[in-house]
Amino acid sequence: MKIAVIGAGYVGLVSGACLADFGHEVCCIDRDPRRIENLRAGRMPIYEPGLAELTAANVSAGRLSFEQDLATGIRDAEVIFIAVGTPSRPEDGHADLTFVYDVAREIAAHLKGYAVIVTKSTVPVGTSDEVERLVRSLRPEIEFSVASNPEFLREGAAIGDFKIPDRIVVGVEDDRARAVMAAVYRPLFLNQAPTLFTDRRSSELTKYAANAFLATKITFINEMADICEKTGANVQDVARGMGLDKRIGPKFLHAGPGFGGSCFPKDVRALIKTGQDFDVPSRIVEAVADVNERRKRRMGRRIIAACGGDIRDRVIAVLGLTFKPRTDDMREAPSIAIIQTLHDAGARVHAFDPAGMEQAREVLGDVTYFRDPYEAVAGADAVAIVTEWESLRALDLKKMHGLMHKSILVDLRNIYIPEQAVAAGFTYLSVGRGDLET
Ligand code: UDX
Repeated sequence: MKIAVIGAGYVGLVSGACLADFGHEVCCIDRDPRRIENLRAGRMPIYEPGLAELTAANVSAGRLSFEQDLATGIRDAEVIFIAVGTPSRPEDGHADLTFVYDVAREIAAHLKGYAVIVTKSTVPVGTSDEVERLVRSLRPEIEFSVASNPEFLREGAAIGDFKIPDRIVVGVEDDRARAVMAAVYRPLFLNQAPTLFTDRRSSELTKYAANAFLATKITFINEMADICEKTGANVQDVARGMGLDKRIGPKFLHAGPGFGGSCFPKDVRALIKTGQDFDVPSRIVEAVADVNERRKRRMGRRIIAACGGDIRDRVIAVLGLTFKPRTDDMREAPSIAIIQTLHDAGARVHAFDPAGMEQAREVLGDVTYFRDPYEAVAGADAVAIVTEWESLRALDLKKMHGLMHKSILVDLRNIYIPEQAVAAGFTYLSVGRGDLET
């Protein structure tokens, strides 16, 4: 099939490369000429394991191409995916649909014959209806369908998530679109991926409901961690005991500094807005957003308290800056609020991240960066681990201890065994497991 994907960002690029790998002929379109130039030269605009290789293989097989001009890119396409950003609107937290509707208008201007226009971006309920209305008003003579097909991939595991998904959700309003979408995903049906065909509105809401539910699960276990700390329980055991109940499941029960990233915070805010707009506010989701936001700064205060309350001119080392491992993405990373809190209290922050330091420079204030975690902790009063990168899981704690001015280890991802940290000479704090002193 001939497929166009508009927006060569995270979702667009991964979807485009994977669809090409299924054997479709895919053109990824982006209005940013530098991005297209880089992609044509094999340079990826995002950090995603395996993406460069997958892209190169499909480009050389002649199935994947990149195009700046939308009219050229969508020519003869049977399916046109809209995969542009839907960021939070600063004024009210709702999803900003400017890019989606701009693209819909442009598609309308260049549509030559029947195509299925698919909203793959995360969009509020009713957006696909609006895309249909827009295109129809501009091109009443052309036949087309609009489908909703949200993407559930995670950064850092995007290719695997796309190719072996837990499920595919497709919202359609007519049989022709349904048949076309079935053909797009046929290779996955052969993998027996469960496919849910539904109406467009249910499909759109499914994405928000799933993300908000996962965000709730994380926030819930984070609150349980707080209760564990006060009562002497161990949150990892509590999570394991809960997760073994098949109705609950073990995933997304890792307590930590709060969720971040490009999806959860923004989607939670947009769902809150939808509920309020329709006069059915979701108290649960509102609480999740509020609790998570406060938590990030609270983690900063926890580090300060561990240092005795006064960290003016003290060096605090922060290891792991990105919102999660295996990405260079700093969007809404807990490290931002934590470092702000440390700065507000007068600390000097030394930082290390395996992939995110370039991005971090753009969002963090006055931070000194190091290319090595041991260099970052040298002379520090405390070290905080904020992201659970593999390379941070097996640090030589004795060596670290020897390099530091004081020896406080705040492990916000619970990746060390408390007794081992204490044996290496640290006062050790983690999340929901009780603090241990040397
Ligand atoms: C998420 C969804 O998982 C994905 O389906 C959707 O399409 C986009 O949003 P992503 O943002 O890439 O994906 O990251 P994810 O691995 O889900 O983690 C999100 C945040 O939750 C991270 O900050 C992570 O550290 C945090 N998290 C996750 C926890 O704190 N505890 C957990 O148990 C799981």
